[in-house]
Amino acid sequence: MTRRVGILISGRGSNMQSLVRASGDAYRVVLVASDNPDAAGLAWAREQGLPTLSHPGKRAEREAAFDAALRDAGVKVIALAGYMRLLSDSFVARWRGRIVNIHPSLLPLYKGLDTHARAIAAGDAEAGASVHVVTEDLDAGEVLAQSRVPVLPDDTPATLAERVLGVEHSLYPQALAEFLRR
Ligand code: GRF
Repeated sequence: MTRRVGILISGRGSNMQSLVRASGDAYRVVLVASDNPDAAGLAWAREQGLPTLSHPGKRAEREAAFDAALRDAGVKVIALAGYMRLLSDSFVARWRGRIVNIHPSLLPLYKGLDTHARAIAAGDAEAGASVHVVTEDLDAGEVLAQSRVPVLPDDTPATLAERVLGVEHSLYPQALAEFLRR
């Protein structure tokens, strides 16, 4: 059975694009939703003919709109892809165990923001990305898969982010497909 996936984004949406491009037998992307009506990724999704939704309002209203649209679309799993808002505990509870996220660090290291600057400042030899289950606690749910890259001596947060993003794009579709087979 092809699983139905909804994706939440806030901006560029390059991970969303990689999830859409890899869709097929394992899953179908049936909705792309955003808190930001001007998200570049939303325009791309519209161009692909995917159903989209944006809701810049208050969190409770936005989450109610997302919840209704995701249910109407028969979504089984929600993939967060650069969704920059914290989800409420009640939204997470309604979708418990059915929301995944990609985070640009080797969790449990560097939850939250500025992960690449923190990895460089710590002198880490490796950085990477993690796909994890979303719980009420920020970036703390079960880690499903990780990819690693080296941190190079002359890295800036921007160069490291670019290297990590390169591996995110193959990691996320693989991890999502595997998660859906559970
Ligand atoms: C990625 O680095 C992802 O790990 C993080 O936010 C960024 C989103 O980039 N959660 P994009 O919008 O998918 O291009």
